[in-house]
Amino acid sequence: MRTIVSMPGDGIGKVVLPEAIRLMEAAGFNANYVHGDIGWEFWVKEGNALPQRTIDLLEEHKIGLFGAITSKPKDAAAAELAPELRDKGYVYFSPIVGLRQHFNLDKCIRPCKAFKGNPLNFVRQDGKGGCDEPLVDTVIFRQNTEGLYGGVEWTNPPAQVRQALETHPKMKRFAHVNGEDLAISTRIITRPATQRIIKAAFEYAREYGYKSVTVCEKPNVLRETSGMMVKEAKKIAEEYPEIQLWDTNIDAQMMWLTKNPEDYGVIVAENMFGDIISDGFAGLVGGLGFACSANIGDDVAVFEPTHGSAPKYEKLNPSIVNPIAMFLSACMMLDHIGEREIANKIRSAIAAVIEEGKVRTYDMLKLRGGADVFEKGACTTQEMTDAVINKL
Ligand code: NAI
Ligand code: MG
Repeated sequence: MRTIVSMPGDGIGKVVLPEAIRLMEAAGFNANYVHGDIGWEFWVKEGNALPQRTIDLLEEHKIGLFGAITSKPKDAAAAELAPELRDKGYVYFSPIVGLRQHFNLDKCIRPCKAFKGNPLNFVRQDGKGGCDEPLVDTVIFRQNTEGLYGGVEWTNPPAQVRQALETHPKMKRFAHVNGEDLAISTRIITRPATQRIIKAAFEYAREYGYKSVTVCEKPNVLRETSGMMVKEAKKIAEEYPEIQLWDTNIDAQMMWLTKNPEDYGVIVAENMFGDIISDGFAGLVGGLGFACSANIGDDVAVFEPTHGSAPKYEKLNPSIVNPIAMFLSACMMLDHIGEREIANKIRSAIAAVIEEGKVRTYDMLKLRGGADVFEKGACTTQEMTDAVINKL
């Protein structure tokens, strides 16, 4: 039997992840789950939100299911650290970013697919006094380890960095700026990682029958980095003659997102652009309650909803939060490990619950979150799971 590392993390991660396991079991997926410690609690107690023992578990079992973590600004992190650990040089870092880097989970996949009947689906005017609801089915491939989020940045950069930058003619404009007044973030991309994410996008398009892959960058301005993305995409596209290669600029893409979102199949982009586009598309299909994701490396893969720990709802009992993003992330895990039939069964059950419209979490009813949502017709998190299980 397969072993899966279950990392609920903080806040509502602890609510939605057990529900996903309950659902998968009901759908006939049997596995061992081993618990992985991760999140704020371990920062406070141990000075490390991603303990080595959790890394070891993933090293051994390769597949992780993750809920969400809480992270807080630098000062709050220092203040909450256990007294005996203070001033010992512990520095908080995001454990999910830590996982991506440690295991080189360089491919992030974020499917944004509208469910029929979801009251949160995007609608647009049809020009005849009514509206129409485009059938959004877009999958974003985001390079997960490099680019603008690569972490190579400075305020007041060291002298060698400034000198090196000054070899570039465009740096002349900044020559007179004081170091303390100068902040630099870099956008470093590498050809191998670029090729991997683009290839993964095309493979996915082929496997799931999408007719286009759009590389969404800004090569007219970011000539080097976006330029490399587009160039590699053109080369790789030749191996996939049945799939069209489109390229769009990130800014225009965000406009077309609300004009003709149904036209886009697979989209591939650098880290930050992929982050932006995937949030944009997620907003068209229901937002954080529906946004699922996978972080995939050569060896290890971790599946997680896009949302965070939603601390304002973590203490509500029964819980109000929507577990569907977590369910869909679990389905991505099932697809990845070759259990696509069970994944499809779960997705169909979710679709049936949404289309029927009887059982809805507070977000689907557009309510403000709080303990009073039940009297306004919202279901609990657990009732949503039960409803999906009933439709299996
Ligand atoms: P968040 O995603 O936790 O919550 C934002 C709002 O979205 C919530 O207040 C709620 O209204 C809604 N929401 C989120 N998940 C929902 C669900 N399943 N069902 C219904 N509504 C839902 O983001 P926020 O408030 O910015 O951050 C809270 C904490 O989570 C912070 O400590 C942040 O650092 C962390 N975070 C962690 C992430 C991760 O674990 N991957 C991602 C984003 C934030
Ligand atoms: Mg984001």
